[in-house]
Amino acid sequence: MRRKMVVANWKMYKTLAEVEDFTRHFPGEIAAQRTVEMVICAPFTALARLAVLLEKTALQLGAQNMYWPDEGAFTGEISPVMLRDAGVKYVLIGHSERRRYFGEEETLIHKKVAAALEHDLIPILCVGENEEQRSAGKTEKVIQEQLWGALEGLGLKNELGERMVLAYEPVWAIGTGTPARGEDAGAVAGLIRSLLREKGSGMAERMRILYGGSVQPENITDFTAQKEIDGALVGGSSLKAKSFAALVEAVLNERGA
Ligand code: PGA
Repeated sequence: MRRKMVVANWKMYKTLAEVEDFTRHFPGEIAAQRTVEMVICAPFTALARLAVLLEKTALQLGAQNMYWPDEGAFTGEISPVMLRDAGVKYVLIGHSERRRYFGEEETLIHKKVAAALEHDLIPILCVGENEEQRSAGKTEKVIQEQLWGALEGLGLKNELGERMVLAYEPVWAIGTGTPARGEDAGAVAGLIRSLLREKGSGMAERMRILYGGSVQPENITDFTAQKEIDGALVGGSSLKAKSFAALVEAVLNERGA
């Protein structure tokens, strides 16, 4: 049984005062529940502080990026060792904003995924087509390339299913207020799982696949109700404590229904 999860991607938002404000306003009963897994992927500057603030809650800590070597002369970068040291458990890899604005490509993304696994961080690998690729009917091809580019040669054993998470984020749906339709996202998640099955059925059944792109408390269950979707990766709607709590609550209520 794959445990549902809601992952916040705070992107380049929140000063330390705003981080504290978020944790102060996040409802205690949601913070304590463990039915739905909750992760906050915060900016680097907030990680160490958040690790302390979240210590007694069920909220897990994630980063939004990392470089792959343990250490070295790489000005401006952060290593997996440093993330572990700061108390991080999850790390987003290959988010479309990294691909688009910072030129990240498959070779680098592959190295980052491998390094995250090596250091016992759980990579949340983001894949998804852009508008042009979608209109050209290339969604399947693009996703397959992104998936194999990142995963090839990793040694896809069963246990990888629990040590990694995938996020299907159609680029055209991110930050636009226009999410994919639940069934369409569910179909792509199904495609991703069938691609994974080619590499190992145990691993494919265990790996969680999230949907991301304009998810809100009002629409999250359109996605989580899909058989192949195990949660959501949320940007804008995760920034306010009330809204992030409402996302988690919606998934909790769905399970109880
Ligand atoms: P959004 O962002 O929820 O603001 O569309 C999602 C993401 O980029 O992960």
